[in-house]
Amino acid sequence: MKVIYFGHSCFLILFNGKKLLIDPFISGNKLANNINISDIKCDYILITHGHQDHLLDAELIGNNNNAIIISNYEIVSWYQSKGLNGHGMNHGGKFNFDFGTVKFVSSIHSSVLPDGSYGGNPGGFVVYGNNKSFYHAGDTALTYDMKLIPRLCPKLDFAILPIGDNFTMGIDEALVASDFIKCKKIIGCHFNTFPPIKIDVANAVKKFSFDKKELIIPKIGASLDL
Ligand code: NI
Ligand code: MN
Repeated sequence: MKVIYFGHSCFLILFNGKKLLIDPFISGNKLANNINISDIKCDYILITHGHQDHLLDAELIGNNNNAIIISNYEIVSWYQSKGLNGHGMNHGGKFNFDFGTVKFVSSIHSSVLPDGSYGGNPGGFVVYGNNKSFYHAGDTALTYDMKLIPRLCPKLDFAILPIGDNFTMGIDEALVASDFIKCKKIIGCHFNTFPPIKIDVANAVKKFSFDKKELIIPKIGASLDL
C-alpha cells in the first residue's frame, strides 16, 4: 500500500487501485502549508468524526473529485444535504466496497459537526481486502473494544493511532493499543498540530523500539510503501 501523509490525522492511501483520503484537515494546518489541496485526487473520503480538524477540507476535495464520503450515518447525511455523495455506516457494521471491506469500529471521543449539527458517534475504520489490511483509529482513548479488531478482521499490516495525548491517547496508551490490535507497525498521528498536543517525538519512537515495535513518524507530504 502507498500511504501519503498530509499532516494531523489526514492520510491518502492507495488501496486496490482506489485512492482513499482519510480525515482531510489541511488548509487549516499551518504545518501542512506545503500541500495544495486542489492537487489532491481521491475516490473516497473516509471521515472518523465530526470535528473540524478531521473534515475541514472534505467538502471542497469531495466536490473536486466527485468522491464518495464514508462515515457514520449522521455525517454522511450532512454531506448529502450539501449535494455530495456518501455511504453512511454505523458502529460494528462492515460493507464491501469496490476496493475492499470497510468496518466502522468504536472510538471513545465526541463528534459535533462544525455548524453545531449532531455528528453521531465517533469511530475508526478497519479497511481490508486482497491480503492487505489497515486500521485508522480516528480520535480515541485507549479502549478494550480494540481487542475485537484482531478477532474479527484480517491481520493488520499497519495501524494509524493518535499519539498526541490531551484530546486522545498518548504514547503510553498507543503502546497498549498496539498489543490490543496485535500490530507492531504503527503510524503516529494527531500530534504537534496544536500546543496541547505537542510531544517529544524522539522519545515516543524510543519507547516503541524498547517494546520491539515500530513507530513511524512520516514527514508531511511524504509517501511510504507499506
Ligand atoms: Ni476530535
Ligand atoms: Mn481531532
